[in-house]
Amino acid sequence: MWTDFFRSRRAGDLLLALVVVKPLVTIPAIRQRISTGAMIGAVPSVVLAGDAQFMITVIGTLKGGSGKSTLAFNLGVWLAMADVDVQLIDADPQATLSDVCDVRVEEQFEPRILVRERSALTKEALLEHEETLIDIGTADMDALRTSLALCDRVVVPVPPSQADIWSTQRFVHLVRSIDSEIRPDVIGFINRGDTHHAVRETNEAAAALVALPDIRYIKPRLSQRTVFRRSFSEGLAVFELEPNGKGAKEFYALAAALFPHLLS
Ligand SMILES: Nc1ncnc2c1ncn2[C@@H]1O[C@H](COP(=O)(O)OP(=O)(O)O)[C@@H](O)[C@H]1O
Ligand SMILES: [Mg+2]
Repeated sequence: MWTDFFRSRRAGDLLLALVVVKPLVTIPAIRQRISTGAMIGAVPSVVLAGDAQFMITVIGTLKGGSGKSTLAFNLGVWLAMADVDVQLIDADPQATLSDVCDVRVEEQFEPRILVRERSALTKEALLEHEETLIDIGTADMDALRTSLALCDRVVVPVPPSQADIWSTQRFVHLVRSIDSEIRPDVIGFINRGDTHHAVRETNEAAAALVALPDIRYIKPRLSQRTVFRRSFSEGLAVFELEPNGKGAKEFYALAAALFPHLLS
């Protein structure tokens, strides 16, 4: 039933989303500028090698349920829609990312997303595609350490609770304890924020995240919204299911903050 709905509305809705969110339509021109080196100064974590640029992003936390796989999947679809050469690495034995991509294949949703297994955690394999997103938890600590040693940056979704702030602090210590060629940029944002203004916990958690050492807080946050869960279970990104919804708008703001070099 959903497939019918998708087929009938998706093309028009996506077209509207591309018009509303200008950054997506400007990406090819900007990528060309990046590859010619015109923006090198503004893109410190992108490695340029000849005509191609590579960025390896780990999406990690110590805790399950913080939204790593959801973010990796949504960013993967967004990058693929923008014609970016992107690979996802599912390095979590839970294999949630692989599962959601399997649903996408079964439903024949486009664009197809390339998901590779833990065995792709080698320098050579990571440099086979321009953008790499690694979804990783703590169930496989070796894979986590390898990912942290090879990445350019780490994105940490932080649910708004004191326990998650403490856990984030521990995670940053772990990242910094890894011997790596590149000191990764560690970026934190609030995921699953409360939508009700009367609940102060989300802002308090954001304030605590700002004050944590060695992690760069970015303001765009994703709220706790059922559309993130519903879209994921359908094998769709949040902006495919509800292109004009609040969840999509939040996601676009976050994606723009994480990939500014693709936009302007
Ligand atoms: N912003 C959000 N709003 C609502 N549900 C979310 C949000 N982010 C993640 N979820 C849901 O929370 C659960 C755990 O998310 P997941 O991405 O699997 O976390 P992790 O990979 O860190 O274990 C999933 O059911 C997912 O749909
Ligand atoms: Mg996961």
